[in-house]
Amino acid sequence: MTVGSTPPAGSDAGKSYDEIPYATLSHYFTHPDRLATVGTLFGLLPPPVESCRVLELGCAGGGNLIPMAYALPGGQFVGIDLSPVQIEQGQKYIDMLKLSNICLVCQDLIDFAPGQATFDYILVHGVFSWIPPRLQEQVFEICRQSLTANGVAYISYNVLPGWTMEQALRQIMLFHIRQENQPLQRFQKALELLDFLAKEASAAGDETYRDRLRKTIQRMRKYADANYQYWIHEYLEEFNTPFYFSQVVEMADRHAMQYLADSDLPTMYTHDLSDESRQFLEKHTQTWVEREQYLDFLRNRMFRRSLFCRQEAALTRQPGLAQLARLNVVSRILPVDYQVSTVDDSPMVFEVTKEDILTFHDPVQKTALVYLAEQLPRPVPFSELAQATRARLPAGYPQDQAASAEEIARVLFMIHTFYPSLINFNTWVPPSIWEVNPQPTASAVARLLAATSNPVTNLIHRRVDLEKHNRYLLWCLNGERSQAELVDMLETAWREGRIPIPYLKPGCEPQTAREAISAQVAFQLKDFAGLHLLVA
Ligand SMILES: C[S@@+](CC[C@H](N)C(=O)[O-])C[C@H]1O[C@@H](n2cnc3c(N)ncnc32)[C@H](O)[C@@H]1O
Repeated sequence: MTVGSTPPAGSDAGKSYDEIPYATLSHYFTHPDRLATVGTLFGLLPPPVESCRVLELGCAGGGNLIPMAYALPGGQFVGIDLSPVQIEQGQKYIDMLKLSNICLVCQDLIDFAPGQATFDYILVHGVFSWIPPRLQEQVFEICRQSLTANGVAYISYNVLPGWTMEQALRQIMLFHIRQENQPLQRFQKALELLDFLAKEASAAGDETYRDRLRKTIQRMRKYADANYQYWIHEYLEEFNTPFYFSQVVEMADRHAMQYLADSDLPTMYTHDLSDESRQFLEKHTQTWVEREQYLDFLRNRMFRRSLFCRQEAALTRQPGLAQLARLNVVSRILPVDYQVSTVDDSPMVFEVTKEDILTFHDPVQKTALVYLAEQLPRPVPFSELAQATRARLPAGYPQDQAASAEEIARVLFMIHTFYPSLINFNTWVPPSIWEVNPQPTASAVARLLAATSNPVTNLIHRRVDLEKHNRYLLWCLNGERSQAELVDMLETAWREGRIPIPYLKPGCEPQTAREAISAQVAFQLKDFAGLHLLVA
């Protein structure tokens, strides 16, 4: 075997995932609502997520698909994966949750008949780079033939030039472990080589090589410590092909699919670039694909989450009011002082980060932002926002209603471009409740995950990291326990040494402990509500 040739070990993809199952988690950017939202912004009319049909290729143990199926009971979900062990694991969770709208199938995707059934959203996360070329073509063929007219496909993959050093190190490691067959021994031996290289590489004096190597190894080492299953499959599998973005778009084109956008929308924005860079892009790129390609050159991007749709779909590249009017808005930009008048042009300051503020004078802008702040965390349909804004302004102001909706759209896009985490657009209202009931009920998926692992997945498909005592509290929320009973349970678990509570000092007086736990439970329940973890 030479460096860079395909290694003999681990050549059966399904088997390698049976031996070391993947730590199967949710991926926010694959959620149908993300795909529908980005699709809507760029002019598609994607099918409503509440009743969508979703296919996931390489679904592993269903960690991504199961929380979606739970939060979207009107949808239908199909996952396929080559590994029977992972499919079995996923099925156990489905049975525990009694979900009837999801089906996991153990199947090689080469045997999947494109077009036999159709889907509104097709998800391929962490698979495309890790399969041989003929299966990559098959992925696009399935997307082409199985996607409904306005459907959206999500495909993620490793990207060049960002993955260049990783690619070299992967090949170096595969050469070093070429005689080893046992996955954990391959892992250990590969890590030993990395440690050796980080210390000794380029004793001969090529400082640039040594520095790049060290930085890359440092990053790879961190992943290995955090999640060795991920690491083994990422770096030591038979296939891992990084692509230039434009190569993937070309492949899509051969299957009559077109690039829609990045599921992580703000990665497409360029406000973080220098004026020179923006001028360069202006001068040297004609199309969006070219622009995105040059952005990878500038940013050395390593991973992409690309969305595709059918080639015949008409897209717009300038999202505006017509698109926003179909979406809901969640805004986390809060006024510093709610008493400032919104009906004249006095300055109103909004906090955007701990160090940053924005000041608005325009009554339409101020009124809309205050309305959104009051509704937080409820997603507000844009039409409601426009109507509520007009209703709060003095009669006859503004004279032109369409202009006021335009103004609201303009300010929301502006804030989203510069502070994407503060303004979120979406197409659905998740089944979360934001008030704490006397006997609160947590999402069944989150409760199940809280019993065994961290993070948990919330109802909008975000991963939420919780400390052990808060995971225990979440697990206790079965809709039958009052707050006093929840405090009892947590206190008992702490006294018996089952659950550590970091805010209680050792030897804490019983009365003091009880009061502290009561206060924290009340606070934490509100936090759970804000984090989309409660359903009743
Ligand atoms: C890196 S894992 C990603 C799993 C999951 N999508 C995620 O990101 O959490 C790749 C998955 O693809 C599956 N896989 C690989 N080759 C496959 C094939 N030919 N047909 C179906 N599944 C395959 C593996 O079994 C594995 O579960």
